[in-house]
Amino acid sequence: MDKKRVVVLTGAGMSAESGLKTFRDANGLWEGHNVMEVASPQGFSRNPELVLEFYNQRRRQLLQVEPNAGHKALVELENYFNVDIVTQNIDNLHEKAGSSAVLHLHGELLKVRSIRDETTILDWTTDLVLGDLDARGHQLRPHVVWFGEMVPMLEPAIAITAMADVLIIIGTSMQVYPAASLINYVPSGTPIYFVDPRPTIREMDFEHLTIIPKTAVEGVPHLVQKLGKDL
Ligand code: APR
Repeated sequence: MDKKRVVVLTGAGMSAESGLKTFRDANGLWEGHNVMEVASPQGFSRNPELVLEFYNQRRRQLLQVEPNAGHKALVELENYFNVDIVTQNIDNLHEKAGSSAVLHLHGELLKVRSIRDETTILDWTTDLVLGDLDARGHQLRPHVVWFGEMVPMLEPAIAITAMADVLIIIGTSMQVYPAASLINYVPSGTPIYFVDPRPTIREMDFEHLTIIPKTAVEGVPHLVQKLGKDL
């Protein structure tokens, strides 16, 4: 019999216990910067050096941290289910833990792309500065979805979510759209589990929703054990 499909929607809280700061826990500032200054096309055209250095700091930090027990439990889940991770995170910790299907809604910190041709995407693990150009001489930028930009992977994410037999949501404030709207695409009757120490949605908001008010490291391994046993 085919394995059931579990779709896992993750946000910044998934990587918090690996040492990467979330957005809203830093009360709207991101490492001391106004988000629109460092994560918007306007910010990039106004001060490209500031934006590039901001992501250089994030990239350097990412290369120092490891996946946590929550990431690893999601790899374990693949023993029992077909698992699709749909993440808002630009870190590579799901891949580093060993998850085999990861869709990045908001881009990837370890990739860069041409400002002129968004299909020119390169792996990039060092600092990116003005003067780092694509093969045609155009400046490279972080391959990250900035505020106000399109979310090109939204359609595939919706298609995946619409096939979920189980939806797990981990560590997201559900405040940023369209990512937050994905919960509405699961087939009716699909069990939903929400792992977050300060959940922003309530069980009465959705049918078959179970809130687990714990951190990723405290809550995800137990949830994975439960789902594996309930099979
Ligand atoms: N384990 C699980 N969840 C946690 C933990 C933890 N250890 N610590 C914090 N959280 C939860 C918070 O309670 C909050 O609900 O993680 C969530 C973090 O929310 P945000 O900081 O808003 O992050 P996220 O929802 O991923 O933001 C979405 O906004 O800034 C943009 O593009 C950026 O992808 C990001 C998007």
